[in-house]
Amino acid sequence: MKVLITGGAGYIGSHTAVELIEAGCRIVIADNFSNSSLVAVKRIRSITETEVPCYFADLRREETVTRIFRNERPDAVIHFAGLKAVGESNEHPVAYYDHNLGSMIQILKAMRTYNCRNLVYSSSATVYGGEAEMPVMEDAALQTTNPYGRTKKMIEEMLMDTSGAYPEMCITALRYFNPIGAHRSGLIGEDPLGIPNNIAPFITQVAAGRRGYLQIFGNDYETADGTGIRDYVHVTDLAKGHIAAINKGAGRNGYHVYNLGTGYGTSVLELVHMFRLVSGKRIPYVITPRRPGDAAVSFADTSKAERELGWKAELSLEDMCRDSWNWQQKNPAGYRSEMIMEVETL
Ligand code: NAD
Ligand code: UFG
Repeated sequence: MKVLITGGAGYIGSHTAVELIEAGCRIVIADNFSNSSLVAVKRIRSITETEVPCYFADLRREETVTRIFRNERPDAVIHFAGLKAVGESNEHPVAYYDHNLGSMIQILKAMRTYNCRNLVYSSSATVYGGEAEMPVMEDAALQTTNPYGRTKKMIEEMLMDTSGAYPEMCITALRYFNPIGAHRSGLIGEDPLGIPNNIAPFITQVAAGRRGYLQIFGNDYETADGTGIRDYVHVTDLAKGHIAAINKGAGRNGYHVYNLGTGYGTSVLELVHMFRLVSGKRIPYVITPRRPGDAAVSFADTSKAERELGWKAELSLEDMCRDSWNWQQKNPAGYRSEMIMEVETL
């Protein structure tokens, strides 16, 4: 099977690229590198010892997407490309609708033109909002609180309509919980530009001394230690979930939705504690007020993915923290570390 991975140089896309190649698929990456690095593609090549075709492409552009489909004729698409920062989406909502909806529309048009019938889409637990009962199941009511979340929900609706009109297609939306960790080699990982929005890269940068302390957003939630609870899932497990979905999609039709998480929740303080154990470093923190819009608790019911896709997360919180720390230590400035080294050796 030949799989087009949009956003394949990004955090989840690069890990999925590696797992797909190791599962025997041929892949093609298309990315505009707005939030990623060419070094990631180079590293995918070195982990898998495979030539990976890669297009520098803005997927909002119809002629660009058409050219990729005309040249590559993929059997399936995994669509990761898009913008993903909640705070930024409040400041720049139009950019979020433009990139997220725009690229999805072009991909769907090209899939129709080139008779490509198997699509896996990156959705998010954010579509459940903050009020759902936990663990949350896929049929819970959807509720969004910011433009980013609304793009995810709108795209799910777009996909449902598309599936209704073209029943020969198989469209799968995967709702990710909180991916953290990195490839066990330490060659690829999460490489946020600027100050990290998410907790795991923030903690590793504090442990490494790049930042002074972590701010814990609230310790007055109704949880055992008062801090927020999330379902952290190893990015390699998440990547394997895509392989399960794309394989299943090759043999069926319709629109399907799955939660991808571990099924258990971890508090911010428990996460800090685990990072401290695996790194042996101090992780200073201060408690600050709650971050607006944050849910107290979010964790998945993963029984549907287990039952229908035969997928279950296998790696532990310790694995996630150890692999994040390994990536941080080997790449103190993320992918820029490699470029800095190359410049220094000139
Ligand atoms: P990422 O930013 O690392 O990867 C997204 C990639 O898409 C980047 O490489 C970026 O350069 C590319 N891109 C953005 N706009 C593009 C465009 N118009 N054309 C071509 N490429 C474009 O993010 P990620 O964490 O790997 O997330 C991948 C997907 O998963 C996103 O759709 C995100 O919304 C979703 N998701 C992520 C999380 C998370 O916590 N990381 C949680 C739930 C859902
Ligand atoms: N947190 C802190 N300090 C920080 C960052 C986060 O205490 O510096 C806390 C948050 O309050 C929350 C937990 O750590 O309790 C996790 O926060 P993240 O920002 O890492 O993750 P979120 O659950 O807020 O959001 C993530 C993605 C969203 C996605 C959502 C559901 O960023 O895009 O998971 O999948 F929608």
